[in-house]
Amino acid sequence: MSIDSATRQTLIESARLARQWAYAPYSNYAVGAALLSASGKIYEGVNVENSAYPTTMCAERVAVFKAVSAGERQFEAIAVVTANAGAPCGSCRQVLAEFGLETLVIIADAAGQVAWEGPLSDLLPRAFTPGDLEK
Ligand code: THU
Repeated sequence: MSIDSATRQTLIESARLARQWAYAPYSNYAVGAALLSASGKIYEGVNVENSAYPTTMCAERVAVFKAVSAGERQFEAIAVVTANAGAPCGSCRQVLAEFGLETLVIIADAAGQVAWEGPLSDLLPRAFTPGDLEK
């Protein structure tokens, strides 16, 4: 997917601003995500940690689940902002892959500086997708 530069900036800024709401008292690693749907809406997400550690949910998946819960299934791009431009984890890559490998992933730091961007297919080569269940 390609998005225009104003939309790209809006998406990064949305993720950057959302990050302030991360609930990360255990790791202190706050993550903000902003997911752009094909309908043009932006769904934000933050990581929500839990005292039972594995119950924690990542920011990217919160954004996807919010969007799907609102009826969205097609996504253009997702911006992910952390202090050090950390990459999305494998589980988040897989959840995103369910809805298309062309989704543009933008990884930025807390200043909004982009460290990497490219299609999800570059982050999750040979992904298992819904099509695999039909073969
Ligand atoms: N985290 C995310 O929110 N997204 C990722 O893709 C990687 C990790 C969160 C989970 C946990 O709250 C914290 O970052 C440290 O792992």
